[in-house]
Amino acid sequence: MISFRSEAKFDKAAIVLLDEQGLKDKRFTFSNKQLKEQTVALLQSGQFTAENGEIFPLVLNKKTVLLVGIGKKEATSLAALRVTVRRAFLSSYLKKAREIELVPHEQAESTIKAIIEAFVIGTYSWKKYLPKGKDDKAGSAVNVAIVSPKKSSYNDALKICEGVNLTRNLINENADTAVSAYIEGVVRNLIKGKKRVSLAVLNRKELKAKGLNLHLAVNKGSNNEPKLMIVKYNGASLKDAYTAVVGKGITFDTGGVNLKPTGSIETMRADMSGTAAVVGILKNTLALNLKKNILFVFGIAENVIGSQAYKPGDVFRSYSGKTVEIGNTDAEGRLVLADAISYVARNYKPKKIIDIATLTGACVIALGYDYSGLVASDDDFARQLIRSSNETDDRAWRLPSYAELEDYIKSPIADLKNVGLPKGAGGTITAAEFLRQFTEGIPWAHLDIAGTAFVDNGAGRMYYSYGATGAGVRLLTHYLKNS
Ligand code: BES
Ligand code: MN
Ligand code: ZN
Repeated sequence: MISFRSEAKFDKAAIVLLDEQGLKDKRFTFSNKQLKEQTVALLQSGQFTAENGEIFPLVLNKKTVLLVGIGKKEATSLAALRVTVRRAFLSSYLKKAREIELVPHEQAESTIKAIIEAFVIGTYSWKKYLPKGKDDKAGSAVNVAIVSPKKSSYNDALKICEGVNLTRNLINENADTAVSAYIEGVVRNLIKGKKRVSLAVLNRKELKAKGLNLHLAVNKGSNNEPKLMIVKYNGASLKDAYTAVVGKGITFDTGGVNLKPTGSIETMRADMSGTAAVVGILKNTLALNLKKNILFVFGIAENVIGSQAYKPGDVFRSYSGKTVEIGNTDAEGRLVLADAISYVARNYKPKKIIDIATLTGACVIALGYDYSGLVASDDDFARQLIRSSNETDDRAWRLPSYAELEDYIKSPIADLKNVGLPKGAGGTITAAEFLRQFTEGIPWAHLDIAGTAFVDNGAGRMYYSYGATGAGVRLLTHYLKNS
């Protein structure tokens, strides 16, 4: 829980943020005389200078007070601020503190939001399967009182962070638990009792009847139900066209018959991160009561091996009518998305389509772990998404889309092939080009979150713990809110 108070009281453990200049000038954002004197003494003796990341523990009225330096205000990015504030929350000095007061160094809205994110996103970790006792090592604070005037935008920021963490829980959960039926349950639970929201579910039977054969092909080796779910959300006039957000939901990606090797397969329960992000965005949309018409689309399947699994060289007819040669069964995400995209395009005629997917290893090579890849058919659309990326710090970087890419996904025996150039050259943009072929000319954008969705170095990255990050949730929630 986060609450706001107008003045620092030091009635519980506290984190006091200080920037270098503020400390030098003795401009304190609290009025406690004793603490001021101690802090000035530390400055004068050179023991604390408020360098970014510096943490100094004090005791005031028997309560722990952590002085936390954030360096030069102008030079410390919001990401660096989140990292520092997160470290303070996770500090062993506050191990026993369940209640914490946080005294910011300034009241800029972006700063207060970053503090909220540092607490809710930064102290999250996946603890479900940790033994008791080990599970309270990090982030034990439950209530934080921020010394700042309450604003409704802070309440929104908090809700968005909770959406991010729901997405992370879905991704971190075991692949054999978070199957399509489980995700359906989560979605049903979110929309239960909500007005102007409806859900359509296409299971194996309906997918067959309607001819979503690419989606079905990917799931052929699995005993779990393939599922295309569409939540229709009417926050605006029924005359307004929808924006569709489509998430890749491969609940486990073994690679299929083109089996992934050791080293590439371990985290493939996270291959439903796109669908999980759409679940988080749906939660946020409901929590913020967005005044937009939105389609939340979940393309869910499991890509596993077995005698019934689809095979390289097979050709399938997509929902759109285009035939596709399977060059590699590990390029499964684009198949599920292709059918989902053309199904939504034809049956709902959205004004815009955004898909989000852990689509290509090539994106990880191109951009690493901190930027999602963005491909868009339309410059203005891309610019708006980049703006949302900049505003939220949920980072994305644009890669090109151009007509000649089409040549690289041609097949001698079908309309298209599900792989591009040899050696994976341009793997992200050729995969995106494959998707574009199914968009029916509707303005479209694609977020490749293969590198950003999951931290698998065992240690965490930036202000994220090991495991899922919720990449794309803040970005797309912001976009949907402001578009
Ligand atoms: N799910 C993977 C992409 C991926 C790789 C996600 C690493 C997260 C981390 C996707 O289905 C895949 O296997 N793509 C192949 C495509 C190739 C066979 C054309 C890839 O990127 O190697
Ligand atoms: Mn794959
Ligand atoms: Zn995949």
